[in-house]
Amino acid sequence: MNNRISLSRYLVEQQRSKGHIPAELRLLLEVVARACKSISHAVNKGALGGVLGSADRENVQGEVQKKLDIIANEVLIEANEWGGHLAAMASEEMDSIYLVPNRYPQGEYLLLFDPLDGSSNIDVNVSIGTIFSVLRKPEASASVTEQDFLQSGRHQVAAGYCIYGPQTTLVLTVGDGVAMFTLDREQGSFVLTQENITIPADTKEFAINMSNMRHWAEPVRRYIDECLQGKEGPRGKDFNMRWIASMVADVHRILTRGGVFMYPWDKREPHKAGKLRLMYEASPMGWIVEQAGGAAINGQERILDITPQHLHQRVSVMLGSKNEVERLRQFHASI
Ligand code: AHG
Ligand code: MN
Ligand code: MN
Repeated sequence: MNNRISLSRYLVEQQRSKGHIPAELRLLLEVVARACKSISHAVNKGALGGVLGSADRENVQGEVQKKLDIIANEVLIEANEWGGHLAAMASEEMDSIYLVPNRYPQGEYLLLFDPLDGSSNIDVNVSIGTIFSVLRKPEASASVTEQDFLQSGRHQVAAGYCIYGPQTTLVLTVGDGVAMFTLDREQGSFVLTQENITIPADTKEFAINMSNMRHWAEPVRRYIDECLQGKEGPRGKDFNMRWIASMVADVHRILTRGGVFMYPWDKREPHKAGKLRLMYEASPMGWIVEQAGGAAINGQERILDITPQHLHQRVSVMLGSKNEVERLRQFHASI
């Protein structure tokens, strides 16, 4: 298998022939991929590595942290702080931004991540993942502040996720479509397994936590209600449902065979815009989905157009097959 293209080669070729990625960004992405490889090993060890269970601590959002949330966070920080490509990092698991220590050179990029997405699935051996987003540090900024991170998703220079499932797969965009790399454990490298991923514009599959139905807003209820009516309803076709409760895994399925994913605003806590976080969940996933020909909105607005007010801001999310997301947008516009 001499024609296998490793992640390193893919990135070098992107840099050389297409000018998409400067050398520093390439290094950054290789380091993130290496960190994901370590996280993948820890995930695979499971109970044998003592990584399961709760850490008996809460993060800034009041969620109980699992041991693996903390381990994954530390792996990403330790891997990325010394390389000279970053100025600062931000994570779901850290209250405030993490500045690259003075003893290391400062780079031009800002890295955001959800170190371990789908925490409720860790202990039950169901797919989980890591989500990341890369921004450029604003030029005028000497020492980085949280304000420097508050850029809309349109400003991302790279975004990706790694899914720890039956296979470990890294999915990446640098603004030139979406590529998928599978971890070859014997060789220890990510190998390109799919390029130019395209999400079909139509679908017969939706993903939403149905147990929240009674709390949803009218447009979301209407959309799901029509799907549930199947062949006899206005859609004229039967729909299937999937809900893995790991955004990475649900989005990965959508990239593979289409579908629509929703975690909408609901009435339980009306002041809360949604459950998912804008900067390190919705924006990177939204960009990946758009780069694959899909769409991502909060109901009314494109996710990538939302300028964050806070690092840990939450947002309502609807993404996936273009025509379905458009239908959801129209339902929201007509109330
Ligand atoms: P995290 O584990 O990083 O906190 O994210 C979990 C998120 C997301 O991955 C998933 O889609 C959703 O929470 C599941 O929520 P429910 O348990 O409410 O279904
Ligand atoms: Mn998450
Ligand atoms: Mn998480």
